[in-house]
Order: sequence, then structure tokens, then C-alpha cells
Amino acid sequence: MGVSQDTQGGTVRSVLRVVRGQVTSDGAGVKLTRVIGNASLGDLDPFLMLDEFGSDSATDYIAGFPDHPHRGFETVTYMLDGRMRHWDNKGNSGLLGPGSVQWMTAGSGLVHSEMPEQQEGLMRGFQLWINLPAKDKMTPPRYQDIPPEQVPEVSGGEGVKVRLLAGRLNGVSGPVSGIVTDPVYFDVHLDPGATFSMPLPAAHTAFFYVYEGSAVSGPERKNVTRGDLAILGQGGQVTIEAGTSPTRLILLAGRPLKEPVARYGPFVMNTREEIMQAFDDFNAGRF
Ligand code: CO
Repeated sequence: MGVSQDTQGGTVRSVLRVVRGQVTSDGAGVKLTRVIGNASLGDLDPFLMLDEFGSDSATDYIAGFPDHPHRGFETVTYMLDGRMRHWDNKGNSGLLGPGSVQWMTAGSGLVHSEMPEQQEGLMRGFQLWINLPAKDKMTPPRYQDIPPEQVPEVSGGEGVKVRLLAGRLNGVSGPVSGIVTDPVYFDVHLDPGATFSMPLPAAHTAFFYVYEGSAVSGPERKNVTRGDLAILGQGGQVTIEAGTSPTRLILLAGRPLKEPVARYGPFVMNTREEIMQAFDDFNAGRF
């Protein structure tokens, strides 16, 4: 397999594997597609889970996600369409509307709900879970609630628009800051046939997920179509070329933690003992 050089001298990342999500339900019965965190792709260090939700049928989402705990990692909700109301047991609340992002560092733990703020219409977006290293798992909970107007939209070249949730492109930084895995989270919109190329930190785990249209990527020009997640290999540069229709995808990268993962439902720690402790703390009302 050839390793091609880009103009800046770094290697272009290959597509190692293309994975399709699995339709499932979570919360009180919300229909969604789980792309990371299922039998075919358990995790992608530091990424623990990726769900895509998208429906214009209220029965698929109206039940929402009533009170549930989290400890030991971060949840990132990116809304494309629709509105979700968020509450937690520390007195925080917020409304997530189209184009907004909520970056929640659950840390030592909280109990929250995420419920649709609409009775009908399209609800579409993503929830991503990102792990925290051992030293930060018990950090106090922190929110970064970013309204759509604070998400910069930057040109990524001819026919390419990029919304920067986290990370830098062309000297512009996304609004999310102070995240230990130093993540990149871009929403990339490509015109038919347009090409997007950028350097990613070489040691970061990286992937993209196509949610509209199709693309080819890497030196081998692998096809990645709507509903596919492309796991990228080592290297510096990512290259993505849209197919014959308008194409939209999310591009993610983050520093891998390389730590043991002990995971049970909404708790993600390093050891089984820490999971037992999380249950004890939750049951005793210490969240
Ligand atoms: Co949650």
C-alpha cells in the first residue's frame, strides 16, 4: 500500500476501515443509529460512543432521555435540527437549538435529562462521548453551551464550508476550549466534487462520518457514503473529496489516552472497583 506525500511533506491518512452504524434505541425509547460503541466498533480511543439521531416522526424521539447519571467522561451534543431541553441535578439547564453544541464534562458525576422541546418536526444531530484520563475523571462537572452564532464558519477551499466546533482551521479556533484530549470537531459541507484537505495532529485518532451525500478519501480513494464512518490511519493530512451530490460530514480527531477502560452503562472509569464506587455514590445520592 503506497504512502503518498502531501505538499507540506506529511503523509496522507488512509481509510483503514469503513463502519456502518446500527439502528437501536436508548433513553426512554429514542430511535437512533449507534456508530461507535456497538458490537462492530466498541470504541476509538478516546471516542467511546457516537450516536446519530434524525427523524421527522415525533414517535422516534418524543420520549427523550429522562434523568440518568454520567461519570468519568464527556458528552458532546451537536444539534442540526430541532430543540432539546437540558436539566441537571446541580441546577443547570439550557436549550439546544439548531447549530448549537453542548460540551459537557461530566467528570465526577451528575444526573441530567435531555428532552425534546417540540411536539413535531425534524429532530437531527449527534451525541458523542469522549473519554477523560484517570487524572481528570473526578474533575468537577463543567458545561460549554455554545449557541450557533458562536460557531465560526470558515472556508475550507473552493466549495467547502467548515463549521468549527473545536479545533483550528486557517488561524480560526472553534469556541470549545480547555479539553484534555485536544479535540478537533468540524462539520464539513462540500459542494459536489469539492475537495477538503487539512493537517491533523499526527498522533491523534481521527475519523469522519458522512451524514449527507458521499465522498472518497485517502491515497486509495476509498468510497464513504451516507451512514458510513471512516476510520483514518496514521499520518498528518486528511483528504476528502465529495461525490456527485452535496455532501456533509463530521470530522473528529483527539489524542488517544491509552489507558484501561472499565465501562458500565453511563459510567466509564479505569477499573472495575471504580465502577462499583460509581454505583455506590450514585445510589447514595452523592452525584
Ligand atoms: Co446524558
